[in-house]
Amino acid sequence: MTLKDKRILLIIAGGIAAYKSLDLIRRLRERGAVVIPVMTRAAEEFVTQLAVGALAAHKVHTDLFSREDEIDVGHIRLARDCDLVLVAPATADLMGKMANGLANDLASTILLATDRPVLMAPAMNPKMWSNLAVSRNASQLLSDGVRCIGPMRGEMAEGGEAGTGRMAEPLEIVAEVEKLLDTASKPLAGRKAIVTSGPTHEPIDPVRYIANRSSGTQGHAIAAALARAGADVTLVSGPVTLADPAGVKVIHIERAEEMRDAVLAELPADIAVMVAAVADWRVASASGEKIKKSADGSVPILQFAENPDILKTVGHHEKRPKLVIGFAAETNDIETNARAKLDRKGADLIVANDVSPETGIMGGKRNTVTIVSRDGIERWPEMSKDDVAQKLVAVIAEKLLG
Ligand code: C5P
Repeated sequence: MTLKDKRILLIIAGGIAAYKSLDLIRRLRERGAVVIPVMTRAAEEFVTQLAVGALAAHKVHTDLFSREDEIDVGHIRLARDCDLVLVAPATADLMGKMANGLANDLASTILLATDRPVLMAPAMNPKMWSNLAVSRNASQLLSDGVRCIGPMRGEMAEGGEAGTGRMAEPLEIVAEVEKLLDTASKPLAGRKAIVTSGPTHEPIDPVRYIANRSSGTQGHAIAAALARAGADVTLVSGPVTLADPAGVKVIHIERAEEMRDAVLAELPADIAVMVAAVADWRVASASGEKIKKSADGSVPILQFAENPDILKTVGHHEKRPKLVIGFAAETNDIETNARAKLDRKGADLIVANDVSPETGIMGGKRNTVTIVSRDGIERWPEMSKDDVAQKLVAVIAEKLLG
């Protein structure tokens, strides 16, 4: 009952995706929410008041000038007497009104009058979604503080067309509602997690360094997802351009040895997720001064020394966390290499991903991973790095709590 007694004002606008709003009402109510439905005139072309009202077990509001409703509740009270306003589907028309402050029906008036968070789930034809005016309105709404989920890529309900425009699925919308209202269950409350993320920079001299292409996107997403699940998270991050995730203690380091020291200082912990792309080697004796170009054209020769393997150190440590998870960024023989890594590093789980250049994973927003444990192998389809993080946290909770 993650949404117990939460009052969700659900605005259904007129699009074919309105059929999914019926299921959305059920999913919200299953979690204990009270759903107060508002339908636009156009929505009634797609779903009936009877169906919406029956599923919500609540009166459906439709009319701005309804004498009865205005005496009863009034549109201003309706706009305020809720925890969240959810617009699903949000059509191009309603988004246009919202972005420009128009209010000529009950739905748009509520959206102007409300002081509650607003979450919209746009749904429209892909050509409409990519239209410049719609893009402008969507950006305006985001900068006005309206939250947005989707639209997603895929087949359109009207058939024959695919692209970005499909409304997010009811369960995805519910998860976003839980996130926004911060009511999602916190299975990892009271557990401590250490996450490493990003690249390391290994100095050559005070101005030059050796680095790699890791952006930190996946590691940071995992730290954020662990924190959302209630864990007490320390993120040890190499140099990245990402913002520190909310609700996470972040230690910024540059070199692998600094990363190791920071990680070991955080033990004991229940969970370690080592996502960082730690440089395997450092320059053996980095110069204290900038190396000058020589007049005779001779070039410096760098000697390397092996860096500490942080995952292996943690995996074999006397204060070893109950769950140790490593990543394996491979360009070939992904699963074989991942299995070998499990034992070598003392890990419980290896998340293997293909980082060959054609995947675009390094620095990208999506990822295709294979989860390798002693129980077997599980291949996950391509998904966003946020979704990988969310699913991985569910696996962590399951392994830790049984
Ligand atoms: O051996 P390889 O670098 O492929 O292993 C990758 C995994 O080991 C990742 O989880 C990475 O964070 C971790 N690692 C580490 N310290 C190193 C090298 C890798 O923690 N020096």
